[in-house]
Amino acid sequence: MPQGDNNAAEYKTDRRRFLLWFSWTGLSVAFGAFLTAVVKFVRPRVSIRPAASTAVGFPDDYRPGQVVYLRGLKLFIIRDGEGFFSMSARCTHLGCMVVWNRDHKMFLCPCHGGKYDAEGRNVEGPPPRPLELFALRQDDNGFLIVDQDAVVKRGKGPVPRFKPGKA
Ligand code: FES
Repeated sequence: MPQGDNNAAEYKTDRRRFLLWFSWTGLSVAFGAFLTAVVKFVRPRVSIRPAASTAVGFPDDYRPGQVVYLRGLKLFIIRDGEGFFSMSARCTHLGCMVVWNRDHKMFLCPCHGGKYDAEGRNVEGPPPRPLELFALRQDDNGFLIVDQDAVVKRGKGPVPRFKPGKA
């Protein structure tokens, strides 16, 4: 084969390789951009964390002696003769949701048998500390507002109660 034919064949092969490489690179970039667009479209842009301050109804929606579990917020609103308090339902051991046992007047954790008294103090089992208390207040319209970013410190005595006024 003459030298000129060899060069022409090599040139064709190089050009073909370059075009192949160029096509695959272009396809890869286009596919990457498409994938990014799909992920951006599918992923929600809203936070799934509940708002820190949430209206939980009017004080009269709760009867004295009632312990109400708000599943969406994972907390309890408790009303007794002295007022209101709000408490996390998340066990301080490994985070399972505790349940209120009306007969024993205790919060019980189904996971490892942790027990809390009616004010959320850990009294038995593995939980290392009491359930968290959240601040309660009332807005201008009379709604009870629970603020999960405002953790109330526990003292030695009874849990502080919120006493709503008339809106
Ligand atoms: S998670 Fe509640 S006792 Fe372990």
